[in-house]
Amino acid sequence: MTDGRTARPLETDRPTPFDPPAELRRRPPLSRLAYPDGHLGWVATGYAVTRAILADPRFSTRRELLHQPVGRERAHERPAPAEPGIFPHMDPPEHTRYRRLLSRHFGPRRVAELTPAIRRYTERALDAMAAGGSPADLVTSFAVPVPALVICELLGVPAEDRHAIQAATAVMNDLDSTPERAVEAVMSITGTVRGLIGRLRRGAGGPDEEGLLAHAVATGDLTDEELTNLGMVLLATGHLPTSSMLALGTFVLLTDETRRTRPSEDADVAERAVEELLRYLSILQFDVRRTALADVEIDGQVIAAGETVVLALPVANRDPERFPHPDDLDLGRPATGHLAFGHGIHQCLGQHLARAELRIALTALFDRLPDLRLAVPAAEVPTRERSAVYGVDRLPVAWGTPSAGHSARDADEAAIR
Ligand code: HEM
Repeated sequence: MTDGRTARPLETDRPTPFDPPAELRRRPPLSRLAYPDGHLGWVATGYAVTRAILADPRFSTRRELLHQPVGRERAHERPAPAEPGIFPHMDPPEHTRYRRLLSRHFGPRRVAELTPAIRRYTERALDAMAAGGSPADLVTSFAVPVPALVICELLGVPAEDRHAIQAATAVMNDLDSTPERAVEAVMSITGTVRGLIGRLRRGAGGPDEEGLLAHAVATGDLTDEELTNLGMVLLATGHLPTSSMLALGTFVLLTDETRRTRPSEDADVAERAVEELLRYLSILQFDVRRTALADVEIDGQVIAAGETVVLALPVANRDPERFPHPDDLDLGRPATGHLAFGHGIHQCLGQHLARAELRIALTALFDRLPDLRLAVPAAEVPTRERSAVYGVDRLPVAWGTPSAGHSARDADEAAIR
């Protein structure tokens, strides 16, 4: 067992763009972790331990109790408690109240209603990408706009405001944006959401009355601050993870020469493939965290009240005790039970929507551009190893007749494995 003197910081170096940090995988299922602010906490890497912690009400997601496992810059700032409406950082009963209000907007029926819109936005993005010609950056031309437009549709953001939200979201998610530009982008989205809520309150028309925001205003139970924050939470959570999965999922499918299976239009096949991609890539790498509210004994160790645990989902979902041959990307395997959407009361609210988006968008992408390939060697695709949501910043892709007479994938397959 490690103690305060031997605890190591979180290992973040990945051996390949798709495999979790090797050093992190060598840890036992629950081990001591040195946080950048000096906190001595834990990291869970085993599937069973991770699932048990996520299901245990003695662990909290309250922001002011959580320590940051990476990033020295702001690690010493103690975060303020979540403002009204920021329910992912609340425990029951506050969390339950918001979750109840929102759940019907994210159920299978609502997602089925949204399917035509998902197809429409996917086709439009592909049309624009094809019109722009090969090569293109799949992140900006496909992976970012599709989920951004879908979440706007679900919220009921009118068409004239979508462009501003989409543009600001792209700035927010671009790691090359300066902090000033990122803050500006957040302010601009907040302003748009606040404006919408004002129009809905005044019955001024514009915002879609079938949208989530209109319904939430109509309940009369929520303040403007709560409504604005809910809108912001949903825009943020509904967008970055899905766009990251779309881009990283495409990347792995373009490099996986040995198993060239692609998601297909056959619904069962595509569903399985998406589930396996979610397990294999598990992009929420460091953001799922909990702090113990009491001393909790787990896996023969005691997590003391006040100690933070990072749930390393990418490692837990590669636990050989739960998934045989976990490092094989096997699109035909039943990957159900994976933890890529978390587990317990905070399990991803948008999981049905995310699955539908991934299934529809990936199927359409490979149908439309069957010869899609990387436009640069795989080793040159920039990855976000230290970011809470793992992914790629850019994914240069090409299709049609290769101008240089060779495929980057052929040239560099060896570099990533
Ligand atoms: C592939 C895409 C996605 C992945 C991998 C993903 C993953 C996750 C994970 C792991 C959690 C649990 C966090 C925790 O326990 O601390 C979560 C929570 C959440 N997700 Fe997603 N998510 C995705 C897409 C979406 C979408 C499309 C939405 C739509 C708005 C969404 C909304 C949320 C919300 C609101 C929460 C917080 C739930 C709560 O605290 O009760 N997610 N997501």
